[in-house]
Amino acid sequence: MARYVIGIDVSTTASKALVIDETGAVVASRSHSHELSTPRPLWSEQDPENWWQATAASLRDVLKQVAAEDVAAIGLTGQMHGLTSLDKDGRPLRPAILWNDQRSGKQCEEITAKIGAKRLYQLIGSILLAGFTAPKILWLKQNEPEIFSQIAHVLLPKDYVRYRLSGAFVADVADGSGFALMDIGKRTWSDELLAAYGIPRAWLPELCESPDICAHVSEEAAAVTGLKAGTPIVGGAGDQPAAMVGMGIVEMGRASLAIGTSGVAHAISDHYAPEPDGRLHTFCGPMAGTWFHMGVMLSAAGGLRWLHDELAPGQSYDQINQWAESVPPGSLGLVFAPYLTGERNPHPDPYARGAFVGLTLRHGLPHMIRATMEGIAFGMRDQLELLRSLGVNPSEAVVTGGATNSAVWLKLTTDIMGIPLYTINTNEGSAFGAAILAAVGSGMHASVPEACRQMVRKVDTTFPDAESAAQYEKLYTIFRGLYPSLKETYHALARFEGM
Ligand code: XUL
Repeated sequence: MARYVIGIDVSTTASKALVIDETGAVVASRSHSHELSTPRPLWSEQDPENWWQATAASLRDVLKQVAAEDVAAIGLTGQMHGLTSLDKDGRPLRPAILWNDQRSGKQCEEITAKIGAKRLYQLIGSILLAGFTAPKILWLKQNEPEIFSQIAHVLLPKDYVRYRLSGAFVADVADGSGFALMDIGKRTWSDELLAAYGIPRAWLPELCESPDICAHVSEEAAAVTGLKAGTPIVGGAGDQPAAMVGMGIVEMGRASLAIGTSGVAHAISDHYAPEPDGRLHTFCGPMAGTWFHMGVMLSAAGGLRWLHDELAPGQSYDQINQWAESVPPGSLGLVFAPYLTGERNPHPDPYARGAFVGLTLRHGLPHMIRATMEGIAFGMRDQLELLRSLGVNPSEAVVTGGATNSAVWLKLTTDIMGIPLYTINTNEGSAFGAAILAAVGSGMHASVPEACRQMVRKVDTTFPDAESAAQYEKLYTIFRGLYPSLKETYHALARFEGM
């Protein structure tokens, strides 16, 4: 009897194959890295063949440890929004244009003006961002018409890998949401949007729900990967909704704070109600009848890494933590605006920048370190407040990523959030979530929440300290004033640089 499930994660940096059993124990895990190319300013591209080769190599590796007949099903996850354009024979027409490619700002403005900002975010659950897929298709139409004229299929990164595994053109609704071509409330492609862009429906993949079996491994792919032909493949989900599954955030009232290079707060909802001003994303959730809210902070733990590399190179992170520990909460009135790479939520502004505000002669490197940790935590608090404004009122939240490796950072983050934060038994993230979806699709577990109860466990809980939390509440009010006061200056600096 098949005992294992595989999660495949086609991320920006690598493709990974993760094998787990029905308890969530990791049996094997391997990854192979991807090349990234930035041929022009604002561009970010990858060769889809590279995703397939890296996936196939990772599968061959893990299938040396696990028998192919023991694999019950496969779940896919990966970087969202990337545009893979294929010709009528399923061959990539050009490199894929990725989620972090910013070339299509003009196309976003054009479509927003055509549909109307309010109508557009009612449909797509977010303001339209250059990172999303649809404006990239319009960019191709306007800038590479000879490529555009040959398009027969458009796929997201993990769905291109699904196509290579099975020959099927399918996307799950949770990743499909990132196209910005769906009527998110109805979980279907939007005829109104397709008409506005001039994109034929026939180019788009069929949609399915994340835990549903939607394809099977082909003979051809079996020969290359070592998988058994006919192994079922479930819909899976984009990296963010899959990460939610991997953290067990699949029931109402639960929230997660993933503090990696970027910072993301997530919560699930049983109805479609996008934030009225489009200040966060609301996409289809990884289970039928669910949606998820997601607030993204572009530079989170990445900000602390920057400070370390630029101002304390060569120092250990233990030393960084000791310095942070030596400074009282509030860093003697020094606050850090964490917008080192612009911002998405709640201030969608590519020109937002980092800033230390309140420097005096009393401040040194330790204060800057603690203020950076605090500024990142305040940015995450902004995401939590956006969730709260939509009626999500978590009594605790799961925390993952860089901040969990530092006791002082985790403690001050807990005080700033004002609710208990807990860590979990896995740091396999999106691949783990994709494997859980495969476990549900294969019948190993009855539902996604049931599978999460079996596979995701709480490890440690940190509780807020009432006194520090009260101090931080006052500082948070000051932090919230930073972006509005600095916005004009940020834009003047961008103009100064000729942007
Ligand atoms: C989500 C997003 C990123 C990418 C790459 O909207 O842009 O999470 O999926 O990780």
